[in-house]
Amino acid sequence: MSREVNRFADCVAVVTGAGSGIGKAAAERLANEGAKVILVGRTKSKLEQAAREINDTKKIPAAEIFPADVTDEEDLAELTQYIEEQYGDFHILINNAGGSSNGKLLEMDAAEWDQIQSVNLKSVFLSAKVLGGFMAKGAARTRGDDNRAIVNVASLSGHQAGAHIPHYSAAKAGVINLTKSLALEFAQYGIRVNSVSPGFIETPLTEQGLQNDKFVKAIERNTALQRVGKAEEIANIIAFVASGEASYMTGSDVLVDGGWLIK
Ligand SMILES: NC(=O)c1ccc[n+]([C@@H]2O[C@H](COP(=O)([O-])OP(=O)(O)OC[C@H]3O[C@@H](n4cnc5c(N)ncnc54)[C@H](OP(=O)(O)O)[C@@H]3O)[C@@H](O)[C@H]2O)c1
Repeated sequence: MSREVNRFADCVAVVTGAGSGIGKAAAERLANEGAKVILVGRTKSKLEQAAREINDTKKIPAAEIFPADVTDEEDLAELTQYIEEQYGDFHILINNAGGSSNGKLLEMDAAEWDQIQSVNLKSVFLSAKVLGGFMAKGAARTRGDDNRAIVNVASLSGHQAGAHIPHYSAAKAGVINLTKSLALEFAQYGIRVNSVSPGFIETPLTEQGLQNDKFVKAIERNTALQRVGKAEEIANIIAFVASGEASYMTGSDVLVDGGWLIK
């Protein structure tokens, strides 16, 4: 879709989990609005494919990849060093990487619990500390004059716990709350921190569930807008929250659930 707006001209952005789904759509949206986007994830081939799709539509490439695990502080430190060497600074951080397994609490072992906390919640802490810390140094140099923002992708499950995802629901509730702490700490640098909480969105994460007709019908029945959402519909909100248009917004969570919670 062609866009008139160019809200991210001269911005460098990092999107984690950018090889698929919501992260890929968000990276594309930021790139289409002028940002240089660094796509982060563990699987190089997925990142390469996503970057190719983004760059194919442009004369000057806007997307590049940096394979990294967001639960690994050293990987994040290497990414920071790379950004420092290539660009000297960056402005937008989208902490989108995440995922879940399905299981009942009474049957879950502690390792599975820890893994889901790590990828969804600890990753946001590490990324904010390492990458956000570097962004804050840039903000101090430019005296908070430019738009800088961190957007954490939480979930509807962080608002209303899901039955077979207790570990994921707890982690995403943590992301919503951690976002507020981060907003308080980063405000002094002029960096806004908000979260976006998607409802049911068609991505590789939900692919298996959405093959089940009963599951899809239940979502349609329980969602005011009577349908599953698209990754682009979340990317639009992430881009708005990250942009200077949301300049007075920090410490907020934006629920984008098609009206699930109001039913
Ligand atoms: N789809 C929904 O209905 C929905 C609803 C609410 C919230 N969300 C949230 O939205 C975000 C994006 O999910 P999605 O639906 O777009 O699913 P997805 O397509 O599975 O995207 C998740 C991405 O995160 C990456 N990732 C996972 N673990 C990582 C790690 N340790 N380090 C770096 N990257 C990692 C994955 O790539 P690799 O495996 O290659 O690393 C993958 O590309 C997640 O935080 C999810 O919890 C989704």
